[in-house]
Amino acid sequence: MRAHLAAWREAGDSIAFVPTMGNLHAGHMSLVELASQHAEHVVVSIFVNPTQFGPGEDFARYPRTPESDVRRLKRAGVDALFIPSDAEMYPNGIDAATQVNVPAVSEILEGEHRPGHFAGVASVVCRLLNICQPDVAVFGQKDYQQLVVLRQMVRDLHMPVKVLAGPTKRAENGLALSSRNQYLNARQKDQAGAIYGALSAVGSAIEKGRSDWAELEAEGWRQLESAGLHPEYFAVRRAVNLSKVETVHQNLVVLAAVRLGDVRLIDNLLVARPA
Ligand code: PAJ
Repeated sequence: MRAHLAAWREAGDSIAFVPTMGNLHAGHMSLVELASQHAEHVVVSIFVNPTQFGPGEDFARYPRTPESDVRRLKRAGVDALFIPSDAEMYPNGIDAATQVNVPAVSEILEGEHRPGHFAGVASVVCRLLNICQPDVAVFGQKDYQQLVVLRQMVRDLHMPVKVLAGPTKRAENGLALSSRNQYLNARQKDQAGAIYGALSAVGSAIEKGRSDWAELEAEGWRQLESAGLHPEYFAVRRAVNLSKVETVHQNLVVLAAVRLGDVRLIDNLLVARPA
């Protein structure tokens, strides 16, 4: 991979990189499109990273569709696709692998419900960035906390890469596209539209000037429950670092995680508070 990309670099071309776990959908492809607007070459990786799944999570059943992924990426004109093995990514084995841990922001919200998840994400994205050495790396706002964690990693470790974020692609009912939506039946997909409904309701209340965060969070929570979803959290936070909102803060994000049957879904919405 290094040798392949070195030739482009020597020719003076820039490289944009989109890491994924495959099973590509329109959300991933929108990041590929965004990447192509920021560099001469687009590189995509597909690696279902074992270290970011907890025990009892869906690593084994995570959908793996390499043939259709390759077809989609070829059609989109992607220049290189990296599909490493576990042994390439973790030559020391998974248990003895060097880890990258981004403290504080990794421990809240998702981190509370998925301990170790963001250490797995940071550990693999650090490796992928070191292998590909792109000028630009593109991530989705869909996984907002992941984006915050990775931005901090890049800053803290002085990694010479620019991080770009792409907006969340949604189904018609507002449900954010996700590989995990495949675990849902048609009725559940309808129900899951309530996540975006609750985020939007709270988002527009904030835009209209409300700042009673605890009550807004409780309203969001109740809206999810009345749609038959089981919320794990519903939170209004600062967009920059996911800390609690204080009077002066204007750029906020509303985040939710729910369980629906044995499926876990997350979503979020960026909101600007009136000045
Ligand atoms: P994965 O879930 O495959 O997502 C790859 C990228 O696509 C992530 O940056 C994610 O935020 C983005 N994405 C997912 N759904 C999206 C949607 N509906 N709209 C826009 N972008 C979307 O996230 C991961 O993989 C992994 O944690 C990874 C970063 C690859 C590390 O293993």
